[in-house]
Amino acid sequence: MSKLLEGKSALITGGGSGIGRATALAFAREGAWVAVADLSLENAKQTLVRLEAAGGQGVALQVDVADDASVAAMVAATIDAFGGLDCAFNNAGINPATAGAGGGQKIADVSLESWNRMLAVNLTGVWLCLRHEVQAMRARGGGAIVNTASIAGLLGLAGASSYPVSKHGVVGLTKVAAADHASDHIRVNAICPGYIETPMTEETRQRHGNRIIDRVPMSRFGEPEEIAEAVVFLCSDRASFVTGSCWTADGGYSAV
Ligand SMILES: NC(=O)c1ccc[n+]([C@@H]2O[C@H](COP(=O)([O-])OP(=O)(O)OC[C@H]3O[C@@H](n4cnc5c(N)ncnc54)[C@H](O)[C@@H]3O)[C@@H](O)[C@H]2O)c1
Repeated sequence: MSKLLEGKSALITGGGSGIGRATALAFAREGAWVAVADLSLENAKQTLVRLEAAGGQGVALQVDVADDASVAAMVAATIDAFGGLDCAFNNAGINPATAGAGGGQKIADVSLESWNRMLAVNLTGVWLCLRHEVQAMRARGGGAIVNTASIAGLLGLAGASSYPVSKHGVVGLTKVAAADHASDHIRVNAICPGYIETPMTEETRQRHGNRIIDRVPMSRFGEPEEIAEAVVFLCSDRASFVTGSCWTADGGYSAV
């Protein structure tokens, strides 16, 4: 059976952990060359070791998606390594705790510092990546981009501070970019995961795991690999008429 991303070059941010790592491995399995970028170069390298052990090819890069020069260097390094860019997964993100907001914080109680950090990484970071990726893909004659939003991009999750605001922004950015760049032959979609078993949700799972599972029709957390499969499809030519969409993969959480 032919591989879905054979011969394509791909870039993944947040590739050193969780959903990004699982997607890097899935992209390589489907025949892509993969640039694995993360704030932690050490974690990106660990993903690359696994990817190469499975027979894939790629490079590991350090990036801070909130920094324009760093993002420009990441995209340039990917083009240097592979000769161009066909697919991008803008997935790096932080949760309220990493942004400096306490657990269960209400929106009016969020500090300006935490608000700015959340939006800088989760929203501006996606836009900066998209901006540089579009330039690279225009030169190639087209491409496919997937942004990681969340069910928090569709629902106003109580007590999640500015995280849902940032993810609603990613949903809006995805729609605008899809409309603006369809004429460049670039498709732009978002993936909206529900609760997934990754390092990001470790504390939430320990503190509220059973309560969350009770609200999920499929009665479990998702696996990062289950998100990766949807991203592979959205980046592949099989999704040739899919753009501007927000694909929910949440075990039914947002359906009830
Ligand atoms: N796990 C979930 O339940 C869930 C649900 C919905 C959406 N998401 C989203 O999925 C994405 C991946 O999350 P995950 O669960 O795999 O989390 P994770 O913490 O395992 O991975 C996130 C990765 O992003 C990297 N990162 C953070 N800030 C960065 C920056 N400024 N520049 C570059 N890299 C940076 C981290 O180093 C880490 O490797 C995030 O955007 C998250 O908001 C996760």
